[in-house]
Amino acid sequence: MLMQNLNGKNVLLGVCGSIAAYKSAELIRLLQEQGARVRVVMTASAQEFITPLTLQTLSKHPVRTDLMDPVAEATMGHIELARWADLVLVAPATQEFMAKLVHGRAADLLSAICSVADVPMMLAPAMNHSMWMNAATQENRQQLIKRGIYFVGPDVGEQACGEHGPGRLVDLESLVAAAAKLYENDLLAGISVIVSAGPTREAIDPVRYLSNRSSGKMAYAIAEAAQEAGAKVTLVSGPVALPTPSKVERIDVISAEQMLGAITSLLAQSDIFVSAAAVADYRPVKFVNQKIKKDKRTQSLELERTPDILKTVREQSEDLFIVGFAAETENLEIYAKQKLASKGMNMIAANLVGEQQGFEQDDNALELFWPKNKDQDNMIIQHKSLEMRPKPKLARQLIAFIAERYYAKTTS
Ligand SMILES: Cc1cc2nc3c(=O)[nH]c(=O)nc-3n(C[C@H](O)[C@H](O)[C@H](O)COP(=O)(O)O)c2cc1C
Repeated sequence: MLMQNLNGKNVLLGVCGSIAAYKSAELIRLLQEQGARVRVVMTASAQEFITPLTLQTLSKHPVRTDLMDPVAEATMGHIELARWADLVLVAPATQEFMAKLVHGRAADLLSAICSVADVPMMLAPAMNHSMWMNAATQENRQQLIKRGIYFVGPDVGEQACGEHGPGRLVDLESLVAAAAKLYENDLLAGISVIVSAGPTREAIDPVRYLSNRSSGKMAYAIAEAAQEAGAKVTLVSGPVALPTPSKVERIDVISAEQMLGAITSLLAQSDIFVSAAAVADYRPVKFVNQKIKKDKRTQSLELERTPDILKTVREQSEDLFIVGFAAETENLEIYAKQKLASKGMNMIAANLVGEQQGFEQDDNALELFWPKNKDQDNMIIQHKSLEMRPKPKLARQLIAFIAERYYAKTTS
């Protein structure tokens, strides 16, 4: 069954030295069927039970086994691998691995990755029932749960050693379902969210247009994160080459004028507007009906301002919670604060753009600003930084913060 929540997620699968390690081969396939990208890290003991070659073939990526591996470190280092992951899933997790995790050990690759990963971590233990019921193992489990690590299983039943009890690796479908459930939350349950995305194109003649380098990746990640948080999401999207996130409604537009029209038609039934599109500021005053010929040595184009979407939306909807974006190449904070105050936004997410930053990139960082008071002339502005990370992770953090601010505002 397709559960969607793992679709497009990066799953780092840790495999430990349990007899159940052979099941990780099937687990990789099940995760991939859900649309997840899987990379595998095996402990030394795990390789006694199943070969890296098998898991490499199934995951379609080299399996990482050593921390001190100069070749692997030169490509995707262990810290990078931890940053790549949206989820660290250790299945099967051994008694030994749980003990190491409790103590924050970092002498082997999997432990080292777990010690730096700042994403959800889930363990699926598998061991003999006496190992599982051992007092130290149970205390370790409690410790790890306290630290926010998720557990799935183990199941009770017939064990590989012929004994019976709790310790079997949970059945793989339940394991995948539990992992998918991690990405569901109800932070924005029942809330309607508009997300604007991508660039706009302002036509010059039938074959040419003015546009910008926005890829839409950040906005699409925000739409997906809002949907995962239980919101009803409508993406109003300029032309981008991205698939529509599941359960998100998408309205395609080309120009700033069309984007404004689509957004205003949704205002009556919306609670939050995240304006993440890179709307063209100017458009040609005149659209030339036929292709402009190259018969002149120089050519000029007269431009006029496109409609101000944020300003218009605020005028039409006083109560809407508006989150703007500011993409700047310099003076980020100053411009962001000016924009926040002048457009009546509830929050602004500012990021630097330019060479290797912001547009078209997979990673991003955001500076968030929001007003503490309503006095336009004496506005006290608060600030929070969301550090550089892959856009899907950043989007989930942003949505969690938007939810916090939205409820603070609606209940104040
Ligand atoms: C045949 C065999 C099966 C094992 N099965 C398990 C198991 O299911 N669970 C477990 O916690 N340890 C099991 N062990 C013990 C672990 O392999 C051992 O504690 C090892 O040090 C774990 O290392 P790792 O956590 O780095 O993979 C088994 C050992 C052998 C020889």
